[in-house]
Amino acid sequence: MVVFPYKADDPAVAVANMATAAAHPRVRRVVTVGAADTPLLERVAEGAAEVARRGHAVVEVVVQERIGDLRPGKGDGMLTGMHLFLDSDEDRLHFYDADITNFDSSWIDGAEEALDAGYPVARHYFPRASTDAMITWLVTRPLFAIGHPHSGLWRIRQPLGGELALTRPVVEGLVASEFVARRSDWGIDTAITYAVAAAGHAVYEHYVADGKQHALYGSLADIEEMVWECFEAAADTTRLPSPAAFEHVLEPDAPAPPAIAHKVGYDVEATIHLLMDGWSADEVAVAESLPSPISGPLLDNRTRPSFAFLDADAWYDVLAEMLARYRPETAWRRVLFRLWAARALAYTTTDALSGHAEAMRRLEATVVGYASRSGNRETGD
Ligand code: LAC
Repeated sequence: MVVFPYKADDPAVAVANMATAAAHPRVRRVVTVGAADTPLLERVAEGAAEVARRGHAVVEVVVQERIGDLRPGKGDGMLTGMHLFLDSDEDRLHFYDADITNFDSSWIDGAEEALDAGYPVARHYFPRASTDAMITWLVTRPLFAIGHPHSGLWRIRQPLGGELALTRPVVEGLVASEFVARRSDWGIDTAITYAVAAAGHAVYEHYVADGKQHALYGSLADIEEMVWECFEAAADTTRLPSPAAFEHVLEPDAPAPPAIAHKVGYDVEATIHLLMDGWSADEVAVAESLPSPISGPLLDNRTRPSFAFLDADAWYDVLAEMLARYRPETAWRRVLFRLWAARALAYTTTDALSGHAEAMRRLEATVVGYASRSGNRETGD
């Protein structure tokens, strides 16, 4: 069974992807899940009916249920897909984002081969622009490294990836997990990644060399909600036990194709304005409550752009402070977002200028460094 969470993506792309999945010899059911008020969901449903008439698979569009207790979003969509799967007699569940423009049967094959080899969890990973994936690189993997330094959790390359396949026992465990089942928002991918590792399942990461072509965001403001929801989910895992050792197979990666290596992930100028504009009194108060090496240069943004102070070491300190003090309230969320945007700009104007391969090497080395810094602190070395 294949599930596509859908969020106002191009309906033609979503329908084409459903048709691709439905034509795969191993696929018997294809479901696109979206919120009731999702624009264009009707259009996808019309296209899906057409696809269903042509092929052997059941093809449908379903309005997601209210399952979690956070903001209703992608999590409710994925959880709805999991419930439908457990109610069916299918034995493998694949998820793919609905907006992939180069989706073909090889995505399904790659995951099926890993499951055939006995891995209960197959995750896709792929080359991304060096300035893309700024939540993965600056929030999720760092928080996993800081919170669970001795676990393999932070080694998972794309913990926010929406392309993965799971066997039935894995899905049963996820649905039964309170931590996962409440995660109705963008935190769902983080929660799944953590819960799969915590359950001790072997994870196979399959490399898609061509990358995933899909709509990129404009300014980083487009993913503000995603920043704090992913932060909150990852921060919550730091209060849970660290996963014990689990098997993790990583297919070797390869240099990114030029189209990805040369792509700019977001609009730098627009992001500088985000950092500077619209400081509320509450945000200033939150910023002032942070240690002065952070608060001083951060608050300078009220009069001039200031982000160079957020090198990788300073960002570790910010994350540690945020883990200790953050509250899921508007002012804290806005300040977290500003800090994150500042770190993204600092990275983009330094490390990212040294070419794709070197930038990726530094991002990976930073995560490794965070794990050893956190691990040493825990053991008092
Ligand atoms: C990430 C999201 C933004 O991986 O795609 O950071």
